[in-house]
Amino acid sequence: MNTLDDIAREIRHCQRCDLAKTRTNAVPGDGNLQADVLFIGEGPGKSEDVQGIPFVGAAGKFLDEMLAEIKLKRKDVYITNIVKCRPPGNRDPKDEEISMCWPYLKQQVALIKPKLIVTLGRHAMNRFLPGLKISQVHGQAKRYKGVATEKQVYFPLYHPAVALYNGSYRDILKADMRKIPKLLSMIKGV
Ligand code: URA
Repeated sequence: MNTLDDIAREIRHCQRCDLAKTRTNAVPGDGNLQADVLFIGEGPGKSEDVQGIPFVGAAGKFLDEMLAEIKLKRKDVYITNIVKCRPPGNRDPKDEEISMCWPYLKQQVALIKPKLIVTLGRHAMNRFLPGLKISQVHGQAKRYKGVATEKQVYFPLYHPAVALYNGSYRDILKADMRKIPKLLSMIKGV
């Protein structure tokens, strides 16, 4: 059985799709390997590509700020993306890129065994909860057939980057995020 370190090593050397040709660094993920909460974004941006760490740019700063409001630090959660290499010019990841990268994410979920999977943005949500509209389901917990266990709890949120372009999403995202502690204690039955 692979460990998360094995998977990260494989990701750093991955050549499965064309994103490998343009990346500076692949970005496997960051945080607590036994986290209860797994955050899944879309794909690395410019700063993430340079540093090899997810969510370290402007959207990441906002994510850190929202985590701090619910008394969580990055080291308490695990953060990764549906594609591990930067799409050039920050374009949307293509379906085939997401599919090529999917086995990595699947293994990460299986090893971390999070109690709650928070998807950030519609791309991450679509992969786990196909057919839903983010404008209708953001901030609502969904129990759904999971990738690592029979049923898993998903919590779709808007992507933090949208809040940087449109201030009204900032409050929506923060309000949704504030539901996490209670949701987590309900899942854990405490
Ligand atoms: N946006 C993402 O979706 N992921 C990152 O790692 C950074 C920005």
